[in-house]
Amino acid sequence: MERTLAIIKPDALAGGHAGKIIDRIISEGFAIRAMKLVRLTRRETEGFYAVHNERPFFGELTEFMSSAPCIPLVLERADAVAKWREVIGATNPAEAAEGTIRKQFATSMGENAVHGSDSSENGIKEGRYFFSESEIVAGGADVTEA
Ligand code: CMP
Repeated sequence: MERTLAIIKPDALAGGHAGKIIDRIISEGFAIRAMKLVRLTRRETEGFYAVHNERPFFGELTEFMSSAPCIPLVLERADAVAKWREVIGATNPAEAAEGTIRKQFATSMGENAVHGSDSSENGIKEGRYFFSESEIVAGGADVTEA
């Protein structure tokens, strides 16, 4: 089993798409281990996206992500990182494949509906950025193993 961090970003939440995205998460076989509604501070988004702090879009990205509430989720399944990236599609919605979440809901490279971790290591690290160990719930009604 592998974990990835998903975020339903402010644009998707404000657009009323959170329910459909959560439904898709479940139908694609992910177990939701943690989930919450948060309004991130600018400082929190700068910390989360610190790897991009030299990029020209860093200001735009951190402003957008702190502009309104979002929903981070810890997702678990076999090949969670690759599978979630397949389900969400390319970062740029213009390049996202048919049927992907970004093709369906994203409007631009910056406002691209959802986030997904880019490696197994970052899946764990990013999950810990938003949730304490006790908030990441093992087992439950949505999973088969105890
Ligand atoms: P995400 O998967 O959250 O990881 C980094 C984010 O930076 C990415 O989604 C995009 O929203 C954003 N991003 C990447 N490239 C650009 C760009 N060229 N212009 C604006 N935002 C970008």
